[in-house]
Amino acid sequence: MNDELKKAITGAGQEHLLRYWEELTVPEKESYREQLAAVNWAQIPQLAVDYVIKRPEIKIPEDLTPAQFFPLKPVDEAQEKLYASAREKGVELLAAGKVCCLTVAGGQGTRLGFDGPKGTYPIGPVSNRTLFEYFAGAVARTSEKYGRQVNWYIMTSPINREATESFFKAKNYFGLPRESVFFFTQGTMPAFGTDGKLLMADKNSLALSPDGHGGTLLALRKSGALDKMIADGNEYISYFQVDNPLVPVADPLFIGLHALENSEMSAIMLSKTNSREKLGNFCVSGGRTMIIEYSDLPDELAEKRNPDGSLAFVAGSPAIHVLSRKFVEKLTSGGTLQLPWHRADKKIPCLNAAGEPVSPAEPNGVKLESFIFDALPLAEKVMILEGDRAEVFAPTKNATGVDSAESCREMISARNARRLECAGVEIPRREDGKIDAVIEISSAWAVDDEDVAALAAETGLKKILPGSMVAL
Ligand code: UD1
Repeated sequence: MNDELKKAITGAGQEHLLRYWEELTVPEKESYREQLAAVNWAQIPQLAVDYVIKRPEIKIPEDLTPAQFFPLKPVDEAQEKLYASAREKGVELLAAGKVCCLTVAGGQGTRLGFDGPKGTYPIGPVSNRTLFEYFAGAVARTSEKYGRQVNWYIMTSPINREATESFFKAKNYFGLPRESVFFFTQGTMPAFGTDGKLLMADKNSLALSPDGHGGTLLALRKSGALDKMIADGNEYISYFQVDNPLVPVADPLFIGLHALENSEMSAIMLSKTNSREKLGNFCVSGGRTMIIEYSDLPDELAEKRNPDGSLAFVAGSPAIHVLSRKFVEKLTSGGTLQLPWHRADKKIPCLNAAGEPVSPAEPNGVKLESFIFDALPLAEKVMILEGDRAEVFAPTKNATGVDSAESCREMISARNARRLECAGVEIPRREDGKIDAVIEISSAWAVDDEDVAALAAETGLKKILPGSMVAL
């Protein structure tokens, strides 16, 4: 280890990390040295004080108001015209190859209890197709529909990069042109013990974890993804999370409105189902749009009502965005970007004082993450569009219950039933109105109502039988 690095580590009060140095083999020393060299030691002492030893204070601005948004359905003729032009603009941008897709898939998916990259989770209610296959099909169909291959960027973390890429290779990239799928890896942050000392995963390794989806922005630059976007003429990035198979991977209306409004970063909002629904809240302070996480919104604001009884802070975030590539370039110029850190208390496997590996049953440390939505206040212009929850949002966070694989499968089937019904197909219903069938439609065939209607016509489908499992 060179003296400079040693000095930086010691200067940051983290000399315990070198306790086992002399015991390590040459290759172990080499890999550990690389890990240590990647840490920004100058910021560690301050982070330890501000985020670990002192609990960061969540400051809710005094002037916080709910954010304005474009409603799901246009309210007057002018807005109707605007939405029509926006849709046209979106189609034009897709056809001109100006749009690419970006899936953030670097998370650890611990709540789902699934061992492996979350995108490889089987979600198809009939076929068991995986989350990645859903998106791949939708990217393929969107490309076919608008006559131009849409590039797809997938962000992984160092923990799941290899497994994710091997999965795609084994599936032959789901038939997508190899050069249109680009994997990139987000950064990591070392985890802290509650005393502000960094935790070790092993004698030759820090306990590192992904640096949050806020890491996407810098990772786009560092990985060369931004350069590829520039070379390919992609100007708009359609951003979504790996846990939501209902998401339209590239919605012409949303993209078109983003462009027409000269927005730098746009977002879909959903009306929250209740005051404490686990969605980030769109707010405004000092003329800037921001998201306050569900866990940070004080009760009196979460419960605040309009005169008609509706929630004042009604706009929740399903984490669906469009970002202008130029905005990402601007934010990361110079190769740095510091979004605020968010603290999460976690159970972190590590070495104890005696150098033995332990898997704690209770939170023993702190992980710091940055969030992509903290880029919203940095945008000169933000556009928010209301989405239809049943059409665009079925998050797969847990194994059962709310926001689970189970509820997601139900929502996939329900959306397909609705689309087929619109196309004149008879859908069996139980007495309580619930659909009496499980229906899956391949996203490679259909990404919207129009596609489903065409598919129904082509296949001559007139009726779904009660109790059946149907895969189209
Ligand atoms: C997130 C949002 C919340 C939003 C909700 C919608 C945060 C903090 N909150 O909640 O505002 O309403 O989704 O479903 O994100 N990821 C990475 N790298 C990381 C961490 C996460 O790529 O380091 C990816 C995950 O793979 C996943 C997405 O980001 O695709 C969301 O992460 P998750 O931890 O599930 O966020 P939530 O707390 O559920």
